[in-house]
Amino acid sequence: MRKITIVGAGRVGESTAQAVAHAEHVHEIALIDIRPGAAAGTALDIQESGKMFRFDTRLVGSHENSVMEGSDLIVITAGLPRKPGMSRSDVLDANLEVILGLVPDVKRYAPDAKVIMVTNPVDIMTYAFRKAIGWDRNRVFGLAGVLDAARMAAFIAMETGYSIKDIATMVLGGHGDSMVPMTRFTTISGIPISHFLEPPVIEKIIDRTRQGGAEILALKQTSSANDSPAAAITVMIDAMVHNRKRILPCVAHLDGEYGEKDIAIGVPVVLGVEGVQDIIELELNPVEKAMFQKSTEQVRQDLASIDFEAKIRS
Ligand code: 2OP
Repeated sequence: MRKITIVGAGRVGESTAQAVAHAEHVHEIALIDIRPGAAAGTALDIQESGKMFRFDTRLVGSHENSVMEGSDLIVITAGLPRKPGMSRSDVLDANLEVILGLVPDVKRYAPDAKVIMVTNPVDIMTYAFRKAIGWDRNRVFGLAGVLDAARMAAFIAMETGYSIKDIATMVLGGHGDSMVPMTRFTTISGIPISHFLEPPVIEKIIDRTRQGGAEILALKQTSSANDSPAAAITVMIDAMVHNRKRILPCVAHLDGEYGEKDIAIGVPVVLGVEGVQDIIELELNPVEKAMFQKSTEQVRQDLASIDFEAKIRS
């Protein structure tokens, strides 16, 4: 993978460009933003940090979609961020227009690319973008569980005082209040989390994970999280660039897995150079199954509110 394009030079797009440039994961990063000069200025600013941060990544920025020409990966962060008190679904209509508006130029300028969807509500945006562009499901997927699982690990590290490096977590389902933190698979150095924390404390961490984005938004007031989403996107890009075949929770299209079809939602996937190379179907226990079912129902409610045929035709 030589080139990636990040659509949206807001805080998430900028932080992602910085992290990917520093890591030298790719030769070139293109930044796009509808605000004239915003992407070009951001790209130039990061480029000028190259000497100090010792990276040779080349960055370009433009308000023209043509700058995505030849990209191997498109990361879509563009759209309205939610405001304090709003749910991710509250920006659905506005952001659906934004991401569907990108489809013709992604097809035209990056016909062989994979797409990481970040724009919220990400489960819906991932589904809608793939439905509109018509690409195989391995090529269009979304950021959710990698970020949510990282937040859960941070809360466990803060609670226990142990190194976050030894903490493994997994979060499935929709990227919203109904997400499914899988405590059964949560360990510290392979030791189940129940060995370290009592159930009420674990429940508190689950709740805080579900509210992770909202908590930061309420504190920052004028913007949602950007550093942790950018770090999560960079983990996904690293897995693809180096074909690591990592097992990571991402928003993926289900075609019978978990008993679900015609939906995009957070499940464990094998992530490599081809994108979502496989979906890992876990044996969920009754409690997990009920939580996952609740989450899919919430995503399907949002999906049902959209007249896709009309939206895609327009
Ligand atoms: C978050 O959870 C922006 O959805 C992203 O912070």
